[in-house]
Amino acid sequence: MERKIIVAIDGHASCGKSTLARQLANKLGYTYVDSGAMYRAVTLYFLENGIDYRNKGQMISALKNINISFQYNEKTEMPETLLNGKVVEKEIRSMKISDEVSPVSAIKEVREFLVAQQQQMGNHKGLTMDGRDIGTVVFPGAELKIFLTSNESIRAERRFIELHKKGIDATLEEVIHNLESRDYEDSHRITSPLYKAGDAIELDNTNLNEAQQLEFALNLVREKIAELG
Ligand code: DC
Repeated sequence: MERKIIVAIDGHASCGKSTLARQLANKLGYTYVDSGAMYRAVTLYFLENGIDYRNKGQMISALKNINISFQYNEKTEMPETLLNGKVVEKEIRSMKISDEVSPVSAIKEVREFLVAQQQQMGNHKGLTMDGRDIGTVVFPGAELKIFLTSNESIRAERRFIELHKKGIDATLEEVIHNLESRDYEDSHRITSPLYKAGDAIELDNTNLNEAQQLEFALNLVREKIAELG
């Protein structure tokens, strides 16, 4: 049987990480995990339950009540996120959550809680995971690390179109503002800030379509598997 590896994909908001990680997993028969969805689900729990996440005691005891899982939706042919057994895929993509998720994901205890679960998902290899710290903290030993980049206005446009397809209201200005502030906060936080791992391969997809981006990444996987023997 062909060797299975872990593919870690990191980068700024909305540069196509989830699309690439999902399509790569489909092609390879791997499991795909959207780690950002987990930070979004924790944020949703805090907001829905009135948890003041700046209050450490309250925040830590709330984490004990959070169970995050994923399931495949046969109709949409997409994975969806569950929070305590309930599908919250649409709720976690709202602008409200996008505006609150960066401060929540900067909390050390939240990161420890989620990183432990993410690392378990990699126990059997055969995994693609996208996020901000996958190649640096979650899987520093990942066989293949990709750092995706993309032109800022293209990212905002793509996000804007994606939100509207999902029936989520937001103006282009709101999307631009959200991306800029998240990118800043995610790159400047104390715990596990976003940065390119030394051994990550940078892929700028500004001028690539999805199929080209996927082909590029698939070639990297094939090369890596051949190299590992
Ligand atoms: O991938 P996304 O844009 O849905 O992620 C939402 C937020 O979650 C992102 O702005 C920062 C945080 N995040 C993180 O801190 N670490 C990860 N591995 C993934 C996401």
